[in-house]
Amino acid sequence: MATLRLGDTAPNFTAESSVGQINLYDYLGESWGILFSHPADFTPVCTTELGTASKFKEKFDARNVKMLALSVDGVASHKEWIKDINQVQETTVNFPIIADEDKKVSKLYDMIHPKADNNLTVRSVFIIAPDKSIKLLLTYPASTGRNFHELLRVIDSLQLTAYHKVATPANWKQGQKVVVSPSISTEDAKIIFTKGVEEIKPYLRMTPDPTT
Ligand code: BEZ
Repeated sequence: MATLRLGDTAPNFTAESSVGQINLYDYLGESWGILFSHPADFTPVCTTELGTASKFKEKFDARNVKMLALSVDGVASHKEWIKDINQVQETTVNFPIIADEDKKVSKLYDMIHPKADNNLTVRSVFIIAPDKSIKLLLTYPASTGRNFHELLRVIDSLQLTAYHKVATPANWKQGQKVVVSPSISTEDAKIIFTKGVEEIKPYLRMTPDPTT
């Protein structure tokens, strides 16, 4: 399998998980999706990540994003680990964790980086649009837990820019001013963006978030 790139179709798969067999496309339906891998069960950083992710589920739901985690251990191990996560993180894991014992999905999504570890997945993130195209790929090392605020922020940007001819500037957060897409002339932008367009440079035009 060639390396996945932005815009590629997320490969479909069927795999065992903590809640039974899952087919990726059936699970996602018409929703957006976030698929994120963890090096292994009963590891400290992963335990904090899965607890945190569970507490963020309402926020992902509000954005119509289905969550799906993956670790290379089996279903029985996942179920025992989930008990620990629920206890120490004071939460309830509320999304499936794929049990990728044969590493079928990890290999399909290139989640094993041999120079990091030949047997464990790195912390990969794939954000998948409703048309199943990959909109974001991230790779973190095992030693760095992910920032779920940042993942939500990227989803907000992806969902905004999917429907409006805008881009989002550095450190942008929902509700803040956005950048007019370079493909639009300032003249046209003033017609499209009725809340106003500020031309800082001919190539840098700002407008209020069109959704707020
Ligand atoms: C962890 O989740 O804590 C972890 C897993 C593998 C290597 C290092 C840390």
